[in-house]
Amino acid sequence: MTLDTSLKLIDPESVRKVRLSSDVAMPVAAFGTFHSDWAQEHMYQATLEAIRLGWRHLDTARAYENEALIGAAIKESVRLGYISSVEDLFITGKLWNGHMNPKDVLPALEGTLTALGINQIDMYLNHWPWPNAHVHGAGTEFRNSDAVPYIHEEFMETWEELCNAKRAGKVVDIGTSNHTAACMKLLLRDVGITERPSCNQMEMHPLMQQTALRREFESENILCTGYMALGSPNRPARDRFDEHLSDLDNATLCDLASELGVSPARIALNWAAQRENGSGGYVAMSTTPKRIHENLLAATDDLLSPAQLLRISGDGSEENPGIDMDNRLIWGQVFLWPEAAGDWKVLWNDSQVFESRSEYDQFKLSL
Ligand SMILES: NC(=O)c1ccc[n+]([C@@H]2O[C@H](COP(=O)([O-])OP(=O)(O)OC[C@H]3O[C@@H](n4cnc5c(N)ncnc54)[C@H](OP(=O)(O)O)[C@@H]3O)[C@@H](O)[C@H]2O)c1
Repeated sequence: MTLDTSLKLIDPESVRKVRLSSDVAMPVAAFGTFHSDWAQEHMYQATLEAIRLGWRHLDTARAYENEALIGAAIKESVRLGYISSVEDLFITGKLWNGHMNPKDVLPALEGTLTALGINQIDMYLNHWPWPNAHVHGAGTEFRNSDAVPYIHEEFMETWEELCNAKRAGKVVDIGTSNHTAACMKLLLRDVGITERPSCNQMEMHPLMQQTALRREFESENILCTGYMALGSPNRPARDRFDEHLSDLDNATLCDLASELGVSPARIALNWAAQRENGSGGYVAMSTTPKRIHENLLAATDDLLSPAQLLRISGDGSEENPGIDMDNRLIWGQVFLWPEAAGDWKVLWNDSQVFESRSEYDQFKLSL
């Protein structure tokens, strides 16, 4: 892709920010850097274009296998004067499942900081509650032979290392990603005030709103930000299932788009930024300059009226059903452990969450 200099730059100051429990202000719109299979080669240029156009929050992860490429784009943005220094950016990074063994956490973080070319990261998330790694591009049939469910005492050893990284000043805020209600309850039970997650990144888009979980987390002062905010329309075939619906083809989104003279994507992202009194954020990726631009604009205005937001969110009444379909796109089969018996819903319904390894062993014996 090439930069589109006909696009009007967006003033980063005009982008809505949300305040984390640490009092740090985070831009609500995060530019996604997960490339799936097809866009890796474009991610450097796309990130450069995003920064040029005004994005100041980058969502990165070790698992995306492109931290050095994103680091190079950041360095080039400074060289070209798009930003005065890396300090102008809010960077989110993620600890990969394969590095959740306590001894691996700090080295993994150091690797991330070096690759991104920074000394400190703004937000470091634990990517998944389960320490079950898979190779990049693994199909849904892939299983890790060491896979285990959430074992709280072991997760806490990982979490302690994240807290240590925060104490050492390598990380400003720590958070979770894809945490379920039960896992979060256990975590909050066992941490001190400075050790609490300030953010949870989770799948959220108009057809997968997760409103109840989000409200539960927000009541604990955990900011929620939604990934796949557009419904990830171009993900690879191996991650698509017949049950999946397309957010951008939804009739309500399309109606609102034609009423307001914008695209369904813009409606989805404005909804993400405005819903729940503008309390959360969204992550969206694009390798197309016009879309990179449009996707940030959504965080600069209140395009949707309360009545229009209600048509998407609903309020539980018959008159306002909203459009939530609980249409989860990431089922997570590659994280499954043997006792889940191939049922991906076990990952999300908290039916197999254990306090300790011995409790898990007893559960296995009981089967
Ligand atoms: N924490 C986690 O576990 C987790 C999981 C998944 C994803 N994420 C993060 O969330 C980000 C977003 O996820 P995603 O990329 O799968 O989903 P997404 O942002 O919902 O969708 C991205 C796709 O939508 C297309 N698109 C972008 N803007 C558009 C627009 N305005 N109109 C129409 N199509 C548009 C893009 O195509 P073009 O490139 O052709 O424009 C791209 O293929 C990732 O990059 C990653 O940073 C986090």
